[in-house]
Amino acid sequence: MSKTNHDLQTRRDAAFARGLGNQLPVYVERARNAELWDVEGRRFIDFGSGIAVLNTGHLHPKVQAAVAKQLDAFSHTCLMVTPYGVAVELAEKLNRLVPGPTPKKAIFVTTGAEAVENCIKIARAHTGRSGVIAFGGGFHGRTFMAMALTGKVVPYKAGFGPFPAEVYHAPFPIAYHGVSVQDSLDALERLFKYDIEPARVAAIIIEPVMGEGGFYIAPPEFLQALRRLCDQHGIVLVIDEIQTGFARTGKMFAIEHSGVEPDLMTMAKSLAGGFPLAAVVGKASIMDAPAPGGLGGTYAGSPVACAAALAVLEVIEQEQLCARATVIGEMMVGALRDLARELPCIGDVRNLGAMVALELVKNGDAHQPDADLTKALTKRAGEKGLVLLSCGLYGNVIRFLAPLTASDAIVREGMGIVAEALRELTGVNVKAVANG
Ligand SMILES: Cc1ncc(COP(=O)(O)O)c(C=O)c1O
Repeated sequence: MSKTNHDLQTRRDAAFARGLGNQLPVYVERARNAELWDVEGRRFIDFGSGIAVLNTGHLHPKVQAAVAKQLDAFSHTCLMVTPYGVAVELAEKLNRLVPGPTPKKAIFVTTGAEAVENCIKIARAHTGRSGVIAFGGGFHGRTFMAMALTGKVVPYKAGFGPFPAEVYHAPFPIAYHGVSVQDSLDALERLFKYDIEPARVAAIIIEPVMGEGGFYIAPPEFLQALRRLCDQHGIVLVIDEIQTGFARTGKMFAIEHSGVEPDLMTMAKSLAGGFPLAAVVGKASIMDAPAPGGLGGTYAGSPVACAAALAVLEVIEQEQLCARATVIGEMMVGALRDLARELPCIGDVRNLGAMVALELVKNGDAHQPDADLTKALTKRAGEKGLVLLSCGLYGNVIRFLAPLTASDAIVREGMGIVAEALRELTGVNVKAVANG
């Protein structure tokens, strides 16, 4: 067996279809908390968390112990055949955690995209309507309905159509790009005039902070306006918390920053600390619309993943990870704002808790995204031992998703690598030179 990154990358390229992307040619041997080590013994700081999956870090000892205990008992029976207590306990806990006074019910599935698909099934069954509205730049997954709802063509939709009908997109409010809350609300009103009457819309789905689309934060007043619009027209409001959930933004769920009660909420990623588990939790009267047998899946609510998720929820509470997310966010933003004073390529720095973004532009202009520099930065950071992820409709945003269990020292070390790499890549561009 080859043991170098290069050999494994060569074999990978031959063995996998090219549609499966690859950020770094680094092959992991082991990982703990916010660090991983590759097959060549090199250490990396992980600011990607396997795309927002490891808010509680790699192999948190409590998650590891819960999984080991469950594996001693049984690994699978199928929740739809002979159920088990660990799933019931998790559903009860999640029902209590989703904000708002209305009684909640849950279903478990396996991936985020599946959770999104099921929200639309449930909303259609509840309303008897077909239309769905999503937002430009949003990401909801790679299955057909989730792909249709996703508001980014390349690489997610190109060549894969036709998509399910009756899906519409409205602009997401992004002040930095000149789209105000009123602009977005006006566009929704126009959509109701041009394309579909509100009485035929089953659901509006939105990420409270756009993940893959660039870490743009939906202003609370926009989410509140969507809530009123949905109430007015009997539309189901679906909040996609797959990337924002489980303490990432300084609250258990990002929607809590707005005080809005969702009708349905998706969750996945950090729910189970690295084990495949996703859920839809929502108002019981809506969740109960589909008939028995209409929802589910062979692996939906795997007992091993449920045991991991219960441990994750305990760790979030015991280690006060919501508060920790706020601290990590402030540390990162402080470091990036210092750097922005020095480097004109930094167009914007923004965050909600530990969901932190760095937007890179040319000539200090929001309308000139610098995707090449962003790509170069993730590559250079990788060479220096830091896993960094990019995102954004124009590929020019670095998204910081460090485990919330990372120490101050690791956060500082990682941000130091970002500064060093960006200075190296833009050396000729420093403001001092530009001003001189
Ligand atoms: C907001 C959001 N929704 C849905 C998904 C799809 O989740 P999965 O990749 O588990 O299908 C993602 C994944 O990145 C996401 O960030």
